[in-house]
Amino acid sequence: MAGGAIVNTGGGKEYPGKLTLFVFLTCVVAATGGLIFGYDIGISGGVTSMDSFLEKFFPEVYRKEKKDTSTNQYCKFDSQLLTTFTSSLYLAALIASFLASAVTRMFGRKWSMFGGGLVFLVGAALNGAARNILMLILGRILLGIGVGFANQSVPVYLSEMAPAQLRGMLNIGFQLMITVGILAANLINYGTAKIKGGWGWRISLALAAVPAGIITLGALFLPDTPNSLIERGHPQEAKEMLRRIRGTDDIHEEYNDLVAASEESKLVKHPWANIIQRKYRPQLTMAILIPFFQQLTGINVIMFYAPVLFKTIGFGDNASLMSAVITGLVNVFSTLVSVFTVDKLGRRKLFLQGGFQMILCQIIVGTLIAIKLGTNGEGHISKTYAAFMVFFICAYVAGFAWSWGPLGWLVPSEIFPLEIRSAGQSINVSVNMLFTFIIAQAFLAMLCHMKFGLFYFFAGWVVIMTTFIALFLPETKNVPIEEMILVWKAHWFWSKFISDDDVHVGNVEMSNGSKSKSVV
Ligand code: BGC
Repeated sequence: MAGGAIVNTGGGKEYPGKLTLFVFLTCVVAATGGLIFGYDIGISGGVTSMDSFLEKFFPEVYRKEKKDTSTNQYCKFDSQLLTTFTSSLYLAALIASFLASAVTRMFGRKWSMFGGGLVFLVGAALNGAARNILMLILGRILLGIGVGFANQSVPVYLSEMAPAQLRGMLNIGFQLMITVGILAANLINYGTAKIKGGWGWRISLALAAVPAGIITLGALFLPDTPNSLIERGHPQEAKEMLRRIRGTDDIHEEYNDLVAASEESKLVKHPWANIIQRKYRPQLTMAILIPFFQQLTGINVIMFYAPVLFKTIGFGDNASLMSAVITGLVNVFSTLVSVFTVDKLGRRKLFLQGGFQMILCQIIVGTLIAIKLGTNGEGHISKTYAAFMVFFICAYVAGFAWSWGPLGWLVPSEIFPLEIRSAGQSINVSVNMLFTFIIAQAFLAMLCHMKFGLFYFFAGWVVIMTTFIALFLPETKNVPIEEMILVWKAHWFWSKFISDDDVHVGNVEMSNGSKSKSVV
């Protein structure tokens, strides 16, 4: 069965302990790192559609928009400077994520989060007080550095704190916070756009300080993870912490495994050289392709530019921001669907269903725009017609929100063996940021040149990635991370890359002393 390997995980390793209130609260605080990322994603689109903001910083775009109402709708907002404002953050985040992985390893996850939060605060202040484009872009670069640090340390922190059997759900907590951040930004933009004096955008940008303040202060109170404590030579504190977060004294087995894992990872001097070995080819491929594909769904066209996009297809100012709020709500609630189903339905079903839904909706939206605006971008869209379009855009967002959104972060984080986990996570974050940057930078020009065909372009990519998942991604639900190698070994394609010697099934001893069952 293509990609459908099933590992018999009955009786798989389970450590004693439960989800304690303490660990739940620490995970909620840590996940607010996602809130800042989301706020950034959501805020720029609304701000760049506000007249007062355009007039102050991008007067040319503003003049063009005002003058050109009768001409090509597709190209009204095409300005490299305007896209640089949005995309500069992601380039900074890409570079910062490499730096952050060293800080996270040497000083612990909490100081990485704290540092990221602080830089964020300064960025928010600069942006809110911006007098010129330089201050604006500098502020965004600082926010980007904050995002780089948060996205590197938060998922690692969550996975290390969470009890193994709830790792998937808590991981999606990070994505849930991203969507809440996007929604909060959309709502704030909706409110501040109405401020008469033309300074509403300042509030939107400065309010990034709120989630930044939460993670900065929160990080101060967060305990470090047992893994990090062991790694940095504090075994006694690590033991205490493990007891506290698991709510039991019976932590010896997990503790010993953590020590063993730490010893093993110390032996690997060059994780970057290690990861290119043939036996890691499946994980490396996923670490590169999953974040790449996630961005090629075209989701950030909606997330960054929904108000601009809705304006382009003929909505008024208010209606376009309102539509961004609607898509933001759909994004949050549809993410909840994956929180509750991911461990039951599995990753593959969500990926495939979400993919089909996105393809269908993108083709419909592209066609609806083509019918009204054609290739010359001239035409008027009625209210009913527009509502129809918003409906399909929402259905597309929903499809993304229970598939590629959360799974784009979850799957790469659960497939790496420990010795290449940190290198793998860096690749995942940086590929994600690189393609977020490229899409953000290219979108307005693409819309201008490809017109409604842009939606067909992304639909084409979703066809490719859905086929890829169907053929090449094995199901990973309920498979303990330590046994993941068996999933690859059983796969029709990836098994070629893994020799029998690479599968140390003996390492995968069950808690009752029996060995892991073979792969079906
Ligand atoms: C992606 C972001 C996207 C967001 C939308 C995240 O998983 O990485 O690029 O904007 O989902 O909810």
